[in-house]
Amino acid sequence: MDALKLYDEGHQWYVFGRDPEKPAKIIDTNQFMIIDGKRSILLDPGGIEVFSSMLASTLKYVDIENITDLFASHQDPDIISSLGMWDQILPKATLHCSWLWESFIRHFGMDNIEFNAIPDTGARISFESIELDFIPAHYLHSSGNFNVYDPKSKILFSGDIGAALEDPGTPMFVEDFDYHIEKMRYFHERWMPSNEAKAHWLRRVRKLDIEIMAPQHGRLFKGKDVERFLDWFEQLDVGLAIK
Ligand SMILES: [Fe+2]
Ligand SMILES: [Fe+2]
Repeated sequence: MDALKLYDEGHQWYVFGRDPEKPAKIIDTNQFMIIDGKRSILLDPGGIEVFSSMLASTLKYVDIENITDLFASHQDPDIISSLGMWDQILPKATLHCSWLWESFIRHFGMDNIEFNAIPDTGARISFESIELDFIPAHYLHSSGNFNVYDPKSKILFSGDIGAALEDPGTPMFVEDFDYHIEKMRYFHERWMPSNEAKAHWLRRVRKLDIEIMAPQHGRLFKGKDVERFLDWFEQLDVGLAIK
């Protein structure tokens, strides 16, 4: 699995994805890791199918005992069905996820990892040198759903928001936004249920200073493409609003 360093000024962000060994019929996913000294967090660590290549890739950059936290934006299998495997190798870790999903994602196996229930209003956690904000993104698409914002690196991990369905091996960043729109349209129209939820999220996220917006599928947005995405998403009718 490929890894790309997104940020390296005191703490580090990595994205993992484009796994050539991934079975063709499962959706391609981006996994993220933030390393802050002796603490590291995996954001949407992925499905059980990508667990072994994800583990091998992360261990090139971090010692296993320094993976202290996991985050699941929501309950979908492509996000966190690897939980039972991480539970075996990271027994002292903490998983941060919406309170709504604890009794559901325990079906993936969680005997050792501690569950930190994020309230609907969001939360902030402190690491060694940084703080991370869990930003509410409910109903986009999951009814208990969070993004992660790092004010220091100005990276927003946006989960399924901004996702695109792409061919294998596609580049990590959007290069031509207009061309990229058609790769995102169906996903947002069909998976995102509510224009109202979209408007709530846009109000929240437009207040943030974002350099990179990083979704869990497809390409990442940088610089002006972040604003272009927010403007495009704002005018798009989704879910119940589609006639
Ligand atoms: Fe999802
Ligand atoms: Fe997803």
